[in-house]
Amino acid sequence: MKLITEVNNPLVTDRVTRLRDVRTSGREFRQFIKEITVLLATEATKNLPVTEVEVETPLQVASGQLIARPGPCIVSIMRAGNIMAETLRDLISEASIGFIGLARQAVTLEIDDYYTNLPSDIADRNCIVVDPMLASGNSLCVALRKLVDAGVPQITVVNILACPEGIQRITSEYPDVHMVVAKIDEALNDKGYILPGLGDAGDRVYGTDDH
Ligand code: URA
Repeated sequence: MKLITEVNNPLVTDRVTRLRDVRTSGREFRQFIKEITVLLATEATKNLPVTEVEVETPLQVASGQLIARPGPCIVSIMRAGNIMAETLRDLISEASIGFIGLARQAVTLEIDDYYTNLPSDIADRNCIVVDPMLASGNSLCVALRKLVDAGVPQITVVNILACPEGIQRITSEYPDVHMVVAKIDEALNDKGYILPGLGDAGDRVYGTDDH
């Protein structure tokens, strides 16, 4: 399986371009994050196990497939991942949501691992980890370690933007993880921001900065 899929689609690119724009309001920013998450969902869910079923249409019996139970666990890397997790949960009614709370220290870029809440049957569920930004990969590595140690069978990561430094880190440390991204950006600056990027995703989603 390919380790990383960049979803090159005009609709995705349109929304990413609008997200980047510093003039985009908080309300629009949230809407574009939700729309991109939906657009990435088909790629992110393409390997989910299914159960064969038959249903009766008004005309005859049809064979089909439903998402196998237990459904996947969508894991939000808080706080910016929450809006993506809620959006995916609306698409996948069988899913549960887990939370991993990680805060990045502004100066040292070290990770403060402050909260974890995962379903007790996590070892029976495939996981879809969501975080709008894959920067250095420090947070994602902490989250992936927790999931691998908990025995999760299959992990997919969904990011809006990722940079080469973070991708290199994840693909070398977690080669079994499939990554789905809207756009691979150019680089990481010395403050840990993706370039050209979109700024601080959490601040823009939750209105905690000037945006
Ligand atoms: N997190 C963000 O919100 N933005 C970046 O550019 C990098 C990490």
